[in-house]
Amino acid sequence: MVVTSAATVESNYDRESELMAIDRSKAGIKGLVDAGLAKLPRVFVHDHLNPEVKSRPPNANIEIPVIDLGGVTNDSTRRAEVINEIRNACQKWGFFQAVNHGIAATTLEEMISGIRRFHEQEPEAKEELYSRDESKKVTFNTKIDMSQALTAYWRDTLTCVMAPQPPAPGELPSACREIMLNYTNNVMNLGLTLFQLLSEALGLNPDHLKEIGCAEGLYVMGHYYPACPEPELTMGTGIHTDSGFLTVLLQDQMGGLQVLHDNQWIDVTPIPGALIINLGDLLQLITNDKFISVYHRVLAKNIGPRISIASFFRTYIQPENALRMYGPIKELLSEENPPLYKETNVVDYFKFKHVKGVEGTSALAHFKL
Ligand code: OGA
Ligand code: NI
Repeated sequence: MVVTSAATVESNYDRESELMAIDRSKAGIKGLVDAGLAKLPRVFVHDHLNPEVKSRPPNANIEIPVIDLGGVTNDSTRRAEVINEIRNACQKWGFFQAVNHGIAATTLEEMISGIRRFHEQEPEAKEELYSRDESKKVTFNTKIDMSQALTAYWRDTLTCVMAPQPPAPGELPSACREIMLNYTNNVMNLGLTLFQLLSEALGLNPDHLKEIGCAEGLYVMGHYYPACPEPELTMGTGIHTDSGFLTVLLQDQMGGLQVLHDNQWIDVTPIPGALIINLGDLLQLITNDKFISVYHRVLAKNIGPRISIASFFRTYIQPENALRMYGPIKELLSEENPPLYKETNVVDYFKFKHVKGVEGTSALAHFKL
């Protein structure tokens, strides 16, 4: 039997009602900041944060790999080099920054501006989208982590499920409708190129990852991290791994994203025009640990806002896609490389991830054989 102390019940109760109040306001964190808030509501105070967690990385000279994708489609020598660099980055880091990726700098800038416009418009214009209903394709809300007894993060997010079927244009907020469609088309094309390069880096047929559906679903999250009055008490995004196959992340120049590498937190320094590419848990699972999905987080800051757009290639939770089984790719297995994971479908995978919450241990361990 689990015994819950009165204190825990009391604090859970507080948290829940504080969160409900934030949800009821439908104005997100930005609404709190605009109202002149000087102290963090308790629900944002992460009791488990300690000075070590918030410290700067001990070695600020280490950077995640930067890979120049220029020439990958028309220069076979260059393509082979890039595949080697990608293999190395995916084995050791699970993260890299891509430059010359083919998406125009103006498109990236306009996407950041569009997400900023959405979050900075009148609260009334965002209100109707405020929701936690995951069956909706377009929602706006403040991030909550269920696993930390309802802890909130210092971040508002607009989520749009853009593939396999984009929402009807009228469902997308007018503040960023056009650029959302344009940017997403570009990210889809880049994703297809990346899945080819990843397939080749694994020694598979270039179309392998695409053929098993890795590029079918695209969830786009436009994050807005307002300046925080007490950044040391909370987090912008807690420690987590991404769940899908691959994430393409566009960040502005504020910084704050950190990746765990060899037990050290490494800053992902903003590079103008670059995109951050990282692998999700399901890619680690299907590659049988050849490629890794690693922990990352975003620190809260007392300056802001910081804007980032995370585009997740992950299966759309719909009956026909959701029941597809994913396990270690047979071609990657041998007597020396037996399967490390059991097969799962995305419904079960995300169900488990949700129970576990965002922060803490990766859900992958649950699917280990
Ligand atoms: C995410 C994420 C990082 C960022 O959305 O999963 O890690 O910089 N975002 O916002
Ligand atoms: Ni992430």
